[in-house]
Amino acid sequence: MSTGTSAKQAAGVAAAALVETGMRLGLGTGSTVAFFLEALAERVRSDGLEVIGVPTSEDTAQRATKLGIPVTTLEELPELDLVIDGADEVDPAFRLIKGGGGALLREKIVAACGKRIVIIVGEGKRVEKLGTTFLLPVEIVPFGAKATHAKVGAVGCQPYLRTLENGETFVTDNGNWILDCKFPYGIEDPEQLHRQLSETPGVVEVGVFLGLCHHVIEGRADGTASHHEQPATPA
Ligand code: 5RP
Repeated sequence: MSTGTSAKQAAGVAAAALVETGMRLGLGTGSTVAFFLEALAERVRSDGLEVIGVPTSEDTAQRATKLGIPVTTLEELPELDLVIDGADEVDPAFRLIKGGGGALLREKIVAACGKRIVIIVGEGKRVEKLGTTFLLPVEIVPFGAKATHAKVGAVGCQPYLRTLENGETFVTDNGNWILDCKFPYGIEDPEQLHRQLSETPGVVEVGVFLGLCHHVIEGRADGTASHHEQPATPA
């Protein structure tokens, strides 16, 4: 098991310990969440925990179902007690970059329905400035993609259309495409950038998550995990 893997597992296991019986859960997407789902399934089996989850991707829906975690849709369950998801970067104000797995649109919709949002990460994802270690994913509709690509680039980044290893365009669960955007010096003003990109025709969702993280669990390679509560916003 690689160092990164055990740190992610530690975060996933620590998050499963937060779940209480009766909770309505938002189930994020990614390799860290996969560890959370395994640990949660173990608690369902051994502690008799009763939960129901709304998955943020087809991948998570399949994993959860295979593990015996009951799932439903946001239509059936529009209010969630606890959302557990991963992230690609977390800054000191708990602003996030998400979408490495391409599930940003559903992840943001589900997070917005959560009373409490817990982000689980392995080491190396807490950064001083967003956009310095990871490209910003932006989900766009295929129609007019070339024009949207140019408009997204005009905000001061280099967008790259996400492709699969075989060269085909990556398609999200919603039938859209992803532009992975490189900011040469990181993202100066995440709020302003979020506004600018959200107002760009053709952009469906932006991988900057603002005000959607209450608590961060950071796993470490030694199997331990630290908990960090959302910093108070300045008055
Ligand atoms: C998927 C995401 C993931 O949560 C994010 O990419 C982190 O993934 P991992 O846990 O595999 O490092 O936003 O869209």
